[in-house]
This record gives sequence, structure tokens and C-alpha cells, in this order.
Amino acid sequence: MKRILVTGGAGYIGSHATLELLDAGYDVVVVDNLSRGHRRAVEPARLREVDLLDTPSLIRVMQEAPVAAVIHFAAYIAVGESMKNPALYFRNNVAGSISLLAAMQEADVRNIVFSSTAAVYGMPSVVPIPETLPYAPINVYGETKVMIEKVLDWFGQTQNFRSVCLRYFNASGADPAARTGEDHEPETHLIPLLFQAIRTGVPATLFGNDYPTPDGSCIRDYIHVSDLARAHIGAVDWLLKGGESRKFNVGTGAGYSVKEVVDAIARVVGQPVPHVWGPRREGDPALLVADSSKLQGELGWSPRDSALDRIVETAWRWYNR
Ligand code: UFG
Repeated sequence: MKRILVTGGAGYIGSHATLELLDAGYDVVVVDNLSRGHRRAVEPARLREVDLLDTPSLIRVMQEAPVAAVIHFAAYIAVGESMKNPALYFRNNVAGSISLLAAMQEADVRNIVFSSTAAVYGMPSVVPIPETLPYAPINVYGETKVMIEKVLDWFGQTQNFRSVCLRYFNASGADPAARTGEDHEPETHLIPLLFQAIRTGVPATLFGNDYPTPDGSCIRDYIHVSDLARAHIGAVDWLLKGGESRKFNVGTGAGYSVKEVVDAIARVVGQPVPHVWGPRREGDPALLVADSSKLQGELGWSPRDSALDRIVETAWRWYNR
């Protein structure tokens, strides 16, 4: 059984990918310092509580048993926080990733799947967004991901590393069996915040209805986290079959506005969603939708659970677990 090392396996996307890897017949060992992840999200026997900056401990984990590939999720993800505390983001996301790569080089593990983001494109000039657009991040979080994509290119050129960078659009929803789900502290994402509004009766603030979109609210490409997780299995399989390094968007190609998400939640949950419209949030592009034809063509991936109602239904089930 091939062993995959998952960093950040106690987090939202990492915990879903771990379940998919196990379902696909891989052995998994998780590295997580639990600074943002949840202990309950990982089987205790799989968890190594190690900080990414601790290179010697990472090497020891890689030497427990041969590791076929690393999937590197562990990172901070809050755009606003990254602008207030850039050192935290550069240390954890950039220095932490470089420590991981140094450990991989030492342990002779040369395949890596990297969690990247649509934030590498900033305010894209072409939508649906092809992977060929230039890097143009507009926040520190996006910049940390650009930096590691470039570092991976250099490790490819100089150290025979092969990498797949997956640029996520809006991860959402939860494991349909509610084994794991979204649980950020503090929560900044739209769907869980709308659920909180239903539960507490305190209206959610929606950021702007004067965008140049049909209903004036921002449009995003919401992808079910289980579909996103399965893209990682495809990427690992690709690398283990000897595939070359790649960068892929992971989205559905369909966009929904904030207003459409509110309406879908009201419909699926069967309760009104208390909300007020406020000003725009700084740094929000009007429209972010992926062209994921490259991923579909090369890895044979396609979304299964990403219909908006399915996203809402699975997220709601987890929220009320
Ligand atoms: N929104 C609100 N009110 C809220 C929260 C969000 O109206 O309280 C709106 C946002 O303005 C945006 C949409 O809902 O239009 C989605 O916002 P999220 O915060 O859920 O997600 P983002 O699109 O801002 O962020 C996602 C990822 C980031 C990544 C970014 C790439 O979560 O990690 O896409 O642009 F950086």
C-alpha cells in the first residue's frame, strides 16, 4: 500500500482528502501542528503533531516508512489576516513550505501536490480563468502561494521534483456522510456565515450589491470539497504514474452570485436567511470562475457533488451534526 504524507490533514480540505485517499486504497500519515486544524478530524494513529518549520521531525516522519508523495495543505488561508500580519503568512506558508521541501529532498521524496489558489490571479482579465494568465496576486495570502509555485518550479529544474499545483476556487460543502466538514475559527466564508445567521437570527452582512454582475453581487465558482479532494487523488495518481509537473485550476466552470447562494440556502434549508447588504469588501473581484478543462482533460477529473443545492445540503448536515 503506497503511503501519502498529508500536511494539514486536520484542516478542512486536508481532512476530506485524507478520507478520499483511504477510500482509494492509500496509506496516509498526517503532519499537522493543530494550530488551525482539529484533533478530532484525524485518526489518532495517523497523526504526527509536527510543525512544518521543524525540518528534522519532518524527516523522521518520512523515514518511518517510504513515502510515495506528499500532499501539502498546511497553510493559513485568511486573506484579511494576511494583510494585517504578513510575517505570520510568509513564515508559515513560505518558510514552512521550504522546510518541507528540504525535508523531502533529504528523505528522497520527490513528488508533491500543492494547495494553491485562485488568489494567484488577483483580479483576472479573462473569465473563465485559464491557467495561462500571469500571476497577479493582490494580497499577501495569494503572494505566498505564488512564491511556492515558483519554488516548486525551481525544485523541478534542479532536484528532479515533480509537482502538481492545484489552484482552488471556492471550496464548500462537507463530506456527504458528515465525517468531517468546514470548521474555521474565526469563520470568514460565506456559506457557514449564512448558516450562523439562520441559527442566531443575527443578520449576515453581504459585501456589495453594486458590482457589474447581473444581480450586482459577486460571482464565485463554488466547488464541493469532496470533488476538490478527489482532484488530489487524481494528481497523486498522475505523479505516481510518472506524469510531468502541472498547474491546474480546480473549479466547476459555473458561477453563482452571493444572492443566488442566499436563495439556495433558504430553499434547501427551508428557512429565511437573515441578511443585510453592506459595502464592498476590499480586494473582492466581481467574478471568479475557473476554466478547469485542462484538469478534466489531463486527469480525467470531473465534479460529482458540486451542484449548489448539494453543496448547501451537505454543509447544512455537517453544521447540524
Ligand atoms: N461574502 C459576503 N459576506 C461574508 C462573507 C463573504 O458577502 O460575510 C461574499 C464575499 O464578498 C464573496 C463571496 O461571499 O463575494 C465569497 O466569499 P468567501 O469569503 O466565502 O470566499 P472568497 O471568494 O473571498 O475566498 C476564496 C477562498 C480564499 C481565496 C479566494 C481567492 O476562501 O482562500 O477565494 O480569491 F483566497
